[in-house]
Amino acid sequence: MAHTDVGKRASVKTRRKRPFIIEFYSSDVGKKWAMALSGVLLLGYLLAHLLGNLKVFLGPENVDLYAEALRDLGGELVPRQSILWLMRGGLLLAYSIHVHAALSLWWRNRKARGSVGYQTRSTYLAATYASRFMAYTGATVFLFILFHLSDLTFGGANPDFVYGDVYANIVATFERVPVVILYIVAILALGMHVWHGTWSLFQSIGVNNAKFNKWRNKLAYGVTAFIVVGNISIPLAVQFGILKL
Ligand code: HEM
Repeated sequence: MAHTDVGKRASVKTRRKRPFIIEFYSSDVGKKWAMALSGVLLLGYLLAHLLGNLKVFLGPENVDLYAEALRDLGGELVPRQSILWLMRGGLLLAYSIHVHAALSLWWRNRKARGSVGYQTRSTYLAATYASRFMAYTGATVFLFILFHLSDLTFGGANPDFVYGDVYANIVATFERVPVVILYIVAILALGMHVWHGTWSLFQSIGVNNAKFNKWRNKLAYGVTAFIVVGNISIPLAVQFGILKL
């Protein structure tokens, strides 16, 4: 018995030694914060990526130079592409945290399902509806990213792919109608995900008052509209012959 007590005390002691950040992340509130912060980073990437991609409308030299400049970040000070790889690492880390936090919150929610009381049922159902919606749109975006990387980064899904020839790769891929449809469906799913994410982001970090809610609605709609219209404009411009080789 005495041994068990010592064991228990020891395990409590080891648990207490975990760094604050890990301790915080293991709570539901911590996971929501992690999702919100990584979500903001991912949103920043989406906006930056879109602004870069919109350079296709300025012509092939512009967008190809932009892609080259990204590889040259840091100039002569660092090995070529090292800053770009650091940024890719940061993006992958943010994405992994976002997905891990989402999956573990979903798992806890699922386990808690049995213990939900009658009074809390409607709030609970509303919450599961929103999280299911986020799970479906999030999974669609994940599958899209796999295709997109193979299409425009590695070229496996694009028979006319030429490394570094960004403008020509974009035009070649969007000359295929099924690819255009796939992008449009994925971008619409991304739009719904971003809309709900931006809207609930402030709730997750505890910012919620009537005056601010009006503003946050406008922000969610504005950001979503820019991402959806901006991204969809590129495949459509190729289909309508505005962007061509
Ligand atoms: C029509 C819209 C889009 C176009 C034209 C486009 C274009 C491109 C191109 C050309 C690359 C390869 C860059 C290079 O290696 O030089 C790329 C990479 C990438 N794109 Fe997109 N993209 C679009 C939409 C999106 C969306 C909606 C997402 C996210 C959901 C996304 C996420 C990524 C990621 C994660 C990479 C890899 C980044 C890297 O290699 O550094 N893209 N995109």
